[in-house]
Order: sequence, then C-alpha cells, then structure tokens
Amino acid sequence: MRLLIPGGAGYIGSHMVKYVQELGHEAVVLDDFSTGHEWAINDCEILRVNLLDQDTLAQLLKGRSFDGVIHFAAKSLVGESVQKPDLYYRNNVVGTLNLVNEMITNDIHNLVFSSTAAIFGNPVTEKIAEDHPKNPINPYGQSKLMAENMLRDICAVHDINATCFRYFNAAGADRSGSLGEAHDPETHLIPNILKSTIPGGSVLKVFGTDYETHDGTCVRDYVHVTDLAEAHFLALEYMKDNSGFSAFNLGNGSGFSVLDVIRSCERAVKKMIPFDPAMRRVGDPPVLVADSSAAICKISWEPKFGSLDAITQSAWRWHEHSGG
Ligand code: UFG
Repeated sequence: MRLLIPGGAGYIGSHMVKYVQELGHEAVVLDDFSTGHEWAINDCEILRVNLLDQDTLAQLLKGRSFDGVIHFAAKSLVGESVQKPDLYYRNNVVGTLNLVNEMITNDIHNLVFSSTAAIFGNPVTEKIAEDHPKNPINPYGQSKLMAENMLRDICAVHDINATCFRYFNAAGADRSGSLGEAHDPETHLIPNILKSTIPGGSVLKVFGTDYETHDGTCVRDYVHVTDLAEAHFLALEYMKDNSGFSAFNLGNGSGFSVLDVIRSCERAVKKMIPFDPAMRRVGDPPVLVADSSAAICKISWEPKFGSLDAITQSAWRWHEHSGG
C-alpha cells in the first residue's frame, strides 16, 4: 500500500511511519515541520507543506493516488488552545477540511483521523465508551470534535470513509530506542518524569494532590504509541468492509495516578524520583479511562503493551538513547 501520512514527523505520526515501513508499505510524509522532526522519519518521500496552504497542497497532491491517508497533523496542547483558540480551529478544523477536499479531488477514499479523549470533557461514567456525552472543556477538544462532525457529514455524501480514534494518554517509545516523544516545550507526564532524573533536569512538579482519587493525584489511561499505530493500520482493513464514518476510543482500560506513574518510572530508571506537589493544572479532569471494547471487537485491535511498566521502560530506553 502507499499511504499519505500528514503529521508523520510528529510523535505518534513518526511511529506510524515506522510501523507501516516495517510491514513493507510505502509512507509519504506530509508535514510543515512546525513541531515535527526530520530525524524522526527515514527512507520516505516528504511533502513539506502546511495544510492551510491550499495552493501548494493542491499542487503537491494533484493526480497522486494513495490507498489511505492517516492524518496526525494538528495542534495538540490543551493549555495553548485556551490561549490561542483561533490557531486551533484553523489548524485542526480548516486544515482537515483542506486535506479532505484534496482527497475528494484526487479520488482518495480512506481517511484515519487522529482525535482525542478531550472531546468528552469531564467524564460522567467510570470508563468512557464511544456513546459517552461529548462536552469538550477546551478549544483543543472542541476543534477535534468539530473535525469529527465535519467528517461524519462529508462521509454521508462523498465517496470517503473515515475512522476517528480518540486516544487517551499516548505514551512510550519504539522498541528500538531510536524514536520517541520529543515535544518542545514538553508538557506530558512520562517524559517530564524521566527528564527530571537526568543531571541538570528540573524537579518534577505534580499538578494537584487533592483530587478525589485513590492517592489524590489525577488518574489517566496510558496507551503505547506503537499500539496506537497498529490500530490505525487495522482501520484501513476495517474500512474495506465498513464504509462511511466510524469512531473508536483507544486506551488500555486501566487507570494509573500520577504517583503510580512516578513509581513505575522509578522501577524503569532504578532510582528514587523526587517531586514537588504543585497547584492543579487548569482543565485537568480527575479521572480519564477508556472503554476500548469496540475497537478490540470491531477492528480486532490487540494492544501489546498492557502494563504500565512496559510503557515506561520503553520511554526510558528512548530518553537514555536521546540524552533526555
Ligand atoms: N502532570 C504532572 N506533571 C507534569 C505533567 C503532567 O503532574 O509535569 C499531570 C497532569 O496534571 C495530568 C497527568 O499528569 O494529571 C497527565 O498529564 P499529561 O499532560 O501527560 O496528559 P493529559 O492527560 O493532560 O493529556 C491527555 C492528552 C491530550 C488530551 C488530554 C485530555 O495528551 O491530548 O489528555 O484531557 F487532550
């Protein structure tokens, strides 16, 4: 297969590229490198363009055929989205619309779309299934929900199939240790814990120790980035027999608190990790855990990294390799 991967130079996108290449398929990366890294992708054609640059996008995709598009290109920081909502709606909604327009023009039929647990807002059930109410509490979640709704409407009238995946907390790194999470600034928990252990690293802050959870810190569902890549690949197979729009939640179905994650990282780095309790971070729901039974049943997804220790160990291998 030949696959177009917008955002393929980013964290999840670059793992996707490696995953499809290892299966012998061709990946073509489309990226503006605003947050992605050239070092993260190898042996593939690169289309350097921002999805908002409609003319260049049209020129680069004109007459090209792809078996599928796996779309990761987006802005994805909750805090930034509150400060710059226009940036988020433009990139995540208009950018996706421009991409889909080119798919329609060029007869490309299958799209896998990177969505988020942030579309659900504050949970009203213990585990979040696909039918959970969708009330995003920040522009990031809202922009992804708008893009999902737009895709649903487009699939109803055009010959386009779309599968949306709402990730819970993407984490970990490729087993080779040569590819992993490298955001700037880094806001995510596991990389921040691991970076704090490297000489000169700043002490980890734990945002909120008074939540109504088993130890007072926020509970999340951590899912390995290679398991996410596998789901995207399986979606291409699923859409052969299931046309139109679909959406699935992707997580491991187990919740771990910030302190649980610190303990797991301590086992990976084999030393104590000090931390400072800090104020709650605005917009953090206390608990977010996925019910992924639909993805497991319908797309035959089988996550391999079921244990938090396996996830933090893979992240640590990458941090050691990359020097933090
Ligand atoms: N945290 C800390 N210290 C840090 C970083 C994070 O205590 O240095 C805490 C956060 O407050 C939160 C937990 O660790 O309680 C996880 O935080 P992350 O930033 O790693 O991940 P989030 O749960 O905030 O974000 C995830 C996805 C987003 C999605 C969001 C939905 O990465 O894409 O869930 O709430 F929008």
